[in-house]
Amino acid sequence: MTEGSNQRQVNDLAVIPVRSFDFAFPEDLDPLWIPLAPYRAHFYNGVSLTMPYLEPFLCKTMREAQQLVEDEQLLEDMKGFIGQEAQHYRCHRRLNERLTLNGHPQFSIIEARISVAYERLSKRSLRTRLAYSAGFECMTNGFTNWILGDRKALFENAQADVASFWIAHMAEECEHKTVAFDVYEHLYGSYWVRALGVVHGSFHVLGLGCIGMTSALHRDQKGSQLQRLAGTLRQLGAVAGKVGPFLLRALHPRYNPRQENEPEWLDDWIAYNAQLGNLGPMPVIDTTSEDMSLPSHLTQPAR
Ligand SMILES: [Fe+2]
Ligand SMILES: [Fe+2]
Repeated sequence: MTEGSNQRQVNDLAVIPVRSFDFAFPEDLDPLWIPLAPYRAHFYNGVSLTMPYLEPFLCKTMREAQQLVEDEQLLEDMKGFIGQEAQHYRCHRRLNERLTLNGHPQFSIIEARISVAYERLSKRSLRTRLAYSAGFECMTNGFTNWILGDRKALFENAQADVASFWIAHMAEECEHKTVAFDVYEHLYGSYWVRALGVVHGSFHVLGLGCIGMTSALHRDQKGSQLQRLAGTLRQLGAVAGKVGPFLLRALHPRYNPRQENEPEWLDDWIAYNAQLGNLGPMPVIDTTSEDMSLPSHLTQPAR
């Protein structure tokens, strides 16, 4: 974690804050929550479907690893990681329920498949699961930089609660980006297993997300099958272009997530929440505003 980040010091240990994390998704939420960008909206919807299964899997893996770790700082980091991820998946679950009710009943069947996939994965060795976790978190770091940095291009005029939720989720991902990597390195450290985890953790989640995305596009029946295929490939091409470099760097034997820059604007988001004592409500971004900045009613510097 870099200087100037959110961590406060308690008893000389840096603490990853577990915030009150909540967004009010409207009852009439349109699953196509980004106007004129159905492929992008359904890509994020598809990925959201994985979160209530993936993130509990990460927490369970981390809890198991806690039994083997004695380093006080690492244990504190793991506590923060589990606390943040637990908040995320609860919020995703509420979003997914809303999306399912509002036009995509097939999401329940897909979620059942995702659940089975993570039950199967949870039977693998702790080393494999930690490598998967660390690998997935490398990919997430790519999404964090993309989403926070390009929030205007990605979410202009999007439904504010959903866009702000994704922004908040990715901001917290950046705060705990080193934890799964550190735990894996602390307990195992084998390069090849970690490298395999980068591929496994990233493509497994993206693959499951694509199932949800294509099911939603199919149900909407907008455009021809060829147009839907082209739109899907364009969206995945954008993911490859923006997130791919993070995965390539993560495959380097001397990779460490600390080498990755933190996105600009993250400190502003952190400071906004700190002014509220991290007790919420989470900032809801005006997606119609010029620079999609944070709400301006808090103007005092962070305490
Ligand atoms: Fe998360
Ligand atoms: Fe995470």
